[in-house]
Amino acid sequence: MKWYDIFSNFYDSSLEKLYFSSRKRAIELLDLKDNQTIIDIACGTGANFKHIKTSNHNFTLYGTDYSSGMLKKGQDSIEKNSWTNTFLFQADARELTLSSIENFTGKKISFDRVICVLGLSVIPEWEMVLDNLIGLLNENGKIVIVDVFAEKRNLNTWLVEKVAKADLNRRIWQTLKIKTDNFHQEYLPVKESKVGGKLFVAVGTKRRK
Ligand SMILES: C[S@@+](CC[C@H](N)C(=O)[O-])C[C@H]1O[C@@H](n2cnc3c(N)ncnc32)[C@H](O)[C@@H]1O
Repeated sequence: MKWYDIFSNFYDSSLEKLYFSSRKRAIELLDLKDNQTIIDIACGTGANFKHIKTSNHNFTLYGTDYSSGMLKKGQDSIEKNSWTNTFLFQADARELTLSSIENFTGKKISFDRVICVLGLSVIPEWEMVLDNLIGLLNENGKIVIVDVFAEKRNLNTWLVEKVAKADLNRRIWQTLKIKTDNFHQEYLPVKESKVGGKLFVAVGTKRRK
C-alpha cells in the first residue's frame, strides 16, 4: 500500500484546519465563471471541492490523484454532499495529457482552470508535469498552484518532507512565472513552523501561441 493510501485515513483530520483559509484564497484567484470545466490535480481527499462548490457556479469539476485511498475519501465526500458534475479518476500526474483524460471521460475535453494544491512539491519530475498541466488549458485558461518553499531549512522542513514525502526546495512559482502570462504570487498567512517553509499561491494565464 502506498503512503498516501495510509495517510488518507488521517489527512483531513490533521491538516484541514491549517489550510482552510489558504484554499479559500486559492479558489478566489481561480476566478471561476459559469459553465467552466476545472481539473484539480493531485486532488487528494478533495479538500478543495467544498470551496469550489460554494462559489455557486454551474461548472464541471474533475479531480485526479495517484492514491486510491485519497480518492476514496474524495468520492465519499462527493456522495455525502450530493455534488453533481464532479468526477474523480486515478492517474499518475506524470502521464496526464488531454488524450489520457479523454480515455476516462470518453469525450473530447479541455480545461478552463487547473488547480494543484500541495501536489507539485510531492510529484516527481514536477517541471515536466507543470508543462503538461499548462498544456491542459484552453486559451486564456488559468492555473493556480499552492505549495511550500523552504527558503531557510530547519527541523520542521525535514519533518514535513518526511511526513508528506515532499521536496520543499522546489522553486515552483519561478517556473510558473516563466511559462505563463499575467503571473501573480502571494504568500499565505500560515506559520512557517507548521508547514516547513513559506506557503504561497501563484497564478498564471496560458500564454497565447
Ligand atoms: C500533500 S497531498 C495534497 C492533496 C490535496 N491536493 C490537498 O490539497 O490536500 C499530495 C497528493 O499528491 C498525490 N500524488 C503524489 N504523487 C502523485 C503522482 N505522481 N500523480 C498524482 N498524484 C500524486 C498524493 O497521492 C497526495 O494525494
